[in-house]
This record gives sequence, C-alpha cells and structure tokens, in this order.
Amino acid sequence: MSDGSNRWDAGHYDGEHAFVYEYGADLLGLLAPEPGERILDLGCGTGHLTAEIADAGAAVLGVDRSPSMVREARAAYPDIPFARADARSLPAEGAFDAAFSNAALHWIPEADHDAVLSTVREALVPGGRFVAEMGGRGNVAALVDATVAELAARGYAIENPWYFPAVGEYTSRIESHGFEVTLARLFDRPTELEGGPDGLRNWLGMFGDSLLADVPEDERDDVLGAVEDWLREEMYDPETETWTAGYRRLRFVAVRTDG
Ligand code: BEZ
Repeated sequence: MSDGSNRWDAGHYDGEHAFVYEYGADLLGLLAPEPGERILDLGCGTGHLTAEIADAGAAVLGVDRSPSMVREARAAYPDIPFARADARSLPAEGAFDAAFSNAALHWIPEADHDAVLSTVREALVPGGRFVAEMGGRGNVAALVDATVAELAARGYAIENPWYFPAVGEYTSRIESHGFEVTLARLFDRPTELEGGPDGLRNWLGMFGDSLLADVPEDERDDVLGAVEDWLREEMYDPETETWTAGYRRLRFVAVRTDG
C-alpha cells in the first residue's frame, strides 16, 4: 500500500511508474462497478483508478495511508472524495457494496492482514465483494534476492519488506474472515521498468526505501550499481535498453458471506 514504510513521491510515481495503475485498469473489469454502487478503493494512490470507478457512475471513496498520495489525488480529481486512512482500521461499518484494491496490500505487513480482512468485511454490506490484486508468491524475487544479498555482503541484515502470499495461503486467510472466494489466480506479468538503462535504479529509488533505509546516502550508488551487475544478464535487454522485472500477481474476488 502507499504506506508509511516508503517515502512516497506522488509526482514521480505518476510520471515514471504509471504502469502500476495502467495494469490495474484490467482489474476494474472484475470489479464491474455499477451506477449508484458505493465502492471503497483501498490504497488508492494518486486516484486514477478511483476516477475510473467514479466514471462508471459509482459513488467511490479513495483512501490511502500516504498524505502525499491523498493530496495528489484530491488535486487531480477534486470532485471525488479521498481520505487518509489505514486499511487496518476503517471506520465504515456496512457502508460499501464493494471494496477494491490494486497493488497496495503487499505493503501491509503479513501480521496485519487479519486486521485488514476483518475491517474490509465490516465495511461491506452482506453479499458485498472484495476485488483485489497484490504481489503474489515469487513477485520480483530476483530483484529482492539480489538486493538483499548485496546488502548482506556489506553487513546490512535486511529481509524482504513486502508480503507476497501464495494463493492457498491467502485464500484460506480470506475465507477465515467470512468471505467466499469466487476467483483466485497467481500469474506472471513481466513488467518493463520505465527509465531505460536507469529503470532498475529508478524502481529501487521509488519503492525500495525499506530495503535501502540503513544504507548511507553516499553508499547507495555503489549498492545500486552492484545490484544492476547481479541482475543485468537476467533482466536487462541491451538492444531495447530496458529492464524487465518478474512481477507475479495474486488476484482474487471474494464475497462477504453472512452468518
Ligand atoms: C508490486 O506492485 O508488485 C510491487 C511494487 C513495489 C514494490 C514491491 C512490489
């Protein structure tokens, strides 16, 4: 999620990492928002998908933990309500027909997902649906492994800061919170990183705060260069000058059951 664990630069996020919401547009087909429905967009970032939900005629509320994302979303879409809120504690009992989330849930620590799922359930009407996509098991594994290994070689003990669950693990978790999972899928989506030869370091600069937090500013360039060296053969195409990351998505639709 656009979470406190990363220092978000909302302008950069939109400019150079637009694939995050561009890919999410596809997920809207599964949400299938109807005119008049009340929909919660969890981890809405800069609000582009929230706006598409509003365009379908739904009454949507976008929430994000990051103040800069909420500021940017409000400036871009002044007619849509956006609020700063944490997915673990939403004050919104039974207020929504559906909840939606794209590329946000993996930012929430694994230990907090029971709180998130019970909060989402409470926010939905009986029969309400939860449609979401997050990084799944193995997501950006080469990138994370190389960075963690390079940091370990330099004496920094850092672990994968994100939660990328397997299908069975996460669907069981959803079901244990009073949902029926009607669709779940883990799939590869190789993703070209924007910025040409700088794509990998741009990505780490945008998303990797929690990986690089302990590294002093004057050592970062060396770390990034070393990670590029580790990954060039596997991820870089010199002809097109593009880095491609091994994104793996976990997508699901779950419906609130009652009783
Ligand atoms: C993702 O969307 O899969 C992702 C984005 C940033 C960091 C980690 C994962």
